[in-house]
Amino acid sequence: MSLLRILVLHGPNLNLLGCRETGIYGTTTLADIDNQLTVLAAQLKCQVISLQSNHEGTLVDAIQAAMGEYDGILINAAAYTHTSVALRDALAAVNLPTVEVHLSNIYRRDTFRHQSYIAAIAIGQISGFGAQSYTLGLQALVDHLRQQTSC
Ligand code: DQA
Repeated sequence: MSLLRILVLHGPNLNLLGCRETGIYGTTTLADIDNQLTVLAAQLKCQVISLQSNHEGTLVDAIQAAMGEYDGILINAAAYTHTSVALRDALAAVNLPTVEVHLSNIYRRDTFRHQSYIAAIAIGQISGFGAQSYTLGLQALVDHLRQQTSC
């Protein structure tokens, strides 16, 4: 089994997890989430590299740089989910299998959160399971990549 490389991208304000709107996002920190992903990645025999940025252009640069370096992308674009054509275009351009995740169930919240610019170019979306959305997303992405390479 080849060692898959997964880029994990966290969008704006996710660096504040643990103290940010804890009634919605819980008390798990971003470092906790990255640790959970690293533990799961070891079990799945893949490698995860995580990046958080509050800047759209930094995230676009990271997506572009992923081409040829990573096998897939796990992304919580946070507020950029609902606003950023630039992130969607970058993901479409590199054409790497992508899974979109959200801690909260975006469809139970404000109507402006119901639209995702990323959903249509992602393999799938996991929303509403707190930190577990990330681990479910990583598992789904790795399963998808392994199925792709086995046929
Ligand atoms: C979020 C949902 C977004 O609507 C919000 O802007 C975030 C976090 C989530 O993980 O639930 O910052 O992506």
